[in-house]
Amino acid sequence: MHPCPAHTHALHSTVTETPVITTTGLTKVYRSRGREVTALDGVDLHVREGEVYGVIGQSGAGKSSLIRCVNLLERPTAGTVTVAGQDLTALAGRGPRAGKELRQARSRIGMVFQHFNLLSTRTVQDNVELPLEILGKSGKERSRKALELLDLVGLTDKAKSYPAQLSGGQKQRVGIARALAGDPKVLLSDEATSALDPETTRSILHLLRDLNRQLGLTVLLITHEMDVVKTVCDSAALMENGRIVESGTVTELLATPGSELAAALFPVSGEASGDDRTVLDVTFHGDAATRPVISQLSRTYNIDISILGAAMDTVAGRQVGRMRIELPGRYEDNVVPIGFLREQGLQIDIQGHAPALVKEGAK
Ligand SMILES: Nc1ncnc2c1ncn2[C@@H]1O[C@H](COP(=O)(O)OP(=O)(O)OP(=O)(O)O)[C@@H](O)[C@H]1O
Ligand SMILES: [Mg+2]
Repeated sequence: MHPCPAHTHALHSTVTETPVITTTGLTKVYRSRGREVTALDGVDLHVREGEVYGVIGQSGAGKSSLIRCVNLLERPTAGTVTVAGQDLTALAGRGPRAGKELRQARSRIGMVFQHFNLLSTRTVQDNVELPLEILGKSGKERSRKALELLDLVGLTDKAKSYPAQLSGGQKQRVGIARALAGDPKVLLSDEATSALDPETTRSILHLLRDLNRQLGLTVLLITHEMDVVKTVCDSAALMENGRIVESGTVTELLATPGSELAAALFPVSGEASGDDRTVLDVTFHGDAATRPVISQLSRTYNIDISILGAAMDTVAGRQVGRMRIELPGRYEDNVVPIGFLREQGLQIDIQGHAPALVKEGAK
């Protein structure tokens, strides 16, 4: 394991209601060789101060485009991007004269890349100092700050090493230290762990989570791994075809009937044993108070209930469970028992009977 001083603090994340990243109607159309690709199709994103926000979605969904538009690495075709109260799109729209302001605003946004993007001819310390050079800081100030950041990410002993002498996880720690050089309020991370093995992935995620807690840093991260969302995110959004189709806090999502994200976060499997059966996914929070409810259901309505699958896990710091059960008879025959379960405060998703879910962005 990497030594990491940040690990010694068991702080809670303090999410406030203050918006720190807001996009409205964010649209990005790429035009190349006469072809147009709409990568973002009116994205309204709301990330609150102090939260870790995960964006997931299939390849090509527009995740990278979203993150690149948030820090204006990519110029949006339409819509607005506001970060820490500053309308970046308006700044960029003012042309070259706003260049300095935009650069300053950007220095308040840290960016971590999948392939680290370190300069191979510079030492670890010099890589971390790079943004500080661009900000015109003195040599002494740069070196003080770089060493402080290397300490924060647990790499003090590697200050004079070159990137080629580091492991993937260590390289990403340097990438993170460099992203923090401008004292950003927000950190953007595009698949920062996808080039790393599972163990290293976990240690980097814990580092991001610790930085979020220790520094009050807001983190917007893209991932294709549901485990990442489960382990570190307070909120998440699912992207499809350039739109956000579901979003919310992880606990809200888990309490949303028919949520695709919730089902992906918490997969339970098990097939119906016949046609004349009703299969329910029961989601519950806290301890296993469900079991008595299930046996009560069985007694009250004199029905045999089979448990097809169950999973229990910690999601966003809370115990959550999901159980797939089977009741004899079709859905129509089970309206009353299902009502009973819902009255007990359990969330019920009926397999093969998707509720008329009003998805965000699907209007
Ligand atoms: N510079 C570009 N020029 C033209 N089209 C682009 C450009 N960048 C992205 N696209 C297209 O925009 C769409 C969204 O791409 P984007 O990279 O944002 O997806 P993604 O969700 O990050 O995918 P992945 O998970 O594979 O990284 C895709 O159809 C992609 O081909
Ligand atoms: Mg991408």
